[in-house]
Amino acid sequence: MSGTLKRESPSKSESSTCQLLARYFGAAPEPMLWAVAPPADAWLVENSSGVVSADAGMREQWQRAGKIAQSPFGQCVMPDDARVVLFWPKAHQLGVWWLTWLCAHLPPGTPLAFVGEHQGGIKRVPKVLAELGLACDKLDSARRCSLFVTRTEPLDQPSDAAWVAFEALDLTLYSHPGVFGHGKLDDGTALLLETLATALPAQTQRILDVGCGDGIITAWLARRGHDVTAVDISDFAVEAARKTLEANALTGRVVASDVYHAIDQERFDLIISNPPFHQERDIHYGAAGRLISEAPHHLTRGGQLILVANGFLPYPERLAQAFGGFEILADNRRFKVYRAGSR
Ligand SMILES: C[S@@+](CC[C@H](N)C(=O)[O-])C[C@H]1O[C@@H](n2cnc3c(N)ncnc32)[C@H](O)[C@@H]1O
Repeated sequence: MSGTLKRESPSKSESSTCQLLARYFGAAPEPMLWAVAPPADAWLVENSSGVVSADAGMREQWQRAGKIAQSPFGQCVMPDDARVVLFWPKAHQLGVWWLTWLCAHLPPGTPLAFVGEHQGGIKRVPKVLAELGLACDKLDSARRCSLFVTRTEPLDQPSDAAWVAFEALDLTLYSHPGVFGHGKLDDGTALLLETLATALPAQTQRILDVGCGDGIITAWLARRGHDVTAVDISDFAVEAARKTLEANALTGRVVASDVYHAIDQERFDLIISNPPFHQERDIHYGAAGRLISEAPHHLTRGGQLILVANGFLPYPERLAQAFGGFEILADNRRFKVYRAGSR
């Protein structure tokens, strides 16, 4: 791997991990990088030939730039000369999963680089590699990030070993490192379901669960006979929700989608959600904002949006803007359940 600067790149890297890659590989690495589980970064999109990401929104960014975007749960082929770089995630077990997955999907002996922030746990990578019997060289360190490299080898450990099953509300739920709440029922979701037990119409409803995570809301609704479609931006969540439905002998449709993106013009009687608002260390209202503002276009006449949220989040204004009003179905001081109806 060479550290020579080739030419100026028009896009600047936004994340510190990509700044380290830009410094190490040069502004235009040749052959190009193959980014695995990366953050959003314009420089990286421009200076990589492909991405493997479990985030449907991330894959869209690469596709829009004419690059190859693959899901670890789909067909994945990386060229022999690709410089594969795994962005080590904060969830350690998820990093181990990606490492195991890459060892299973790349030919033995393929150079595999790891980059990550010191506070995100990248410094544990040499120990992880040693435990798996893999070599490790440090390539660079700057901006509170480090870059390591190893060579892939077949491992004994199967990459599906990280799935866990747990019980909640009389349902068997499947989860994986990286899935929201990993292995436990969220308090906000518990309040939402307790509220829905009395607030739902008796007749079968066509329902959309936005941000399904492990599928708890979807399975709970499907068990009551509703026709449920679940969407989540994370493939790990999509897989988890599918496994959850199967484990409980329930049916439902689960789709990888950035909010409403993959369900296009479809309309539902109810949209139900414990919406996302955490992304990395920042609080983002982007996905939740779109969930609320675009909801009226995805509801049938008289349809309703029901969501649970931390009481401090600014959803009342957004609901009032999109629907002209709303009601609070439950409030336990930490969480509120809101209902707004389409006109
Ligand atoms: C607060 S969690 C709720 C998970 C699950 N419904 C529950 O109640 O435990 C929010 C979910 O939204 C997903 N998510 C984040 N951004 C999204 C987006 N843009 N489109 C769809 N889902 C998204 C996350 O992956 C996460 O699973």
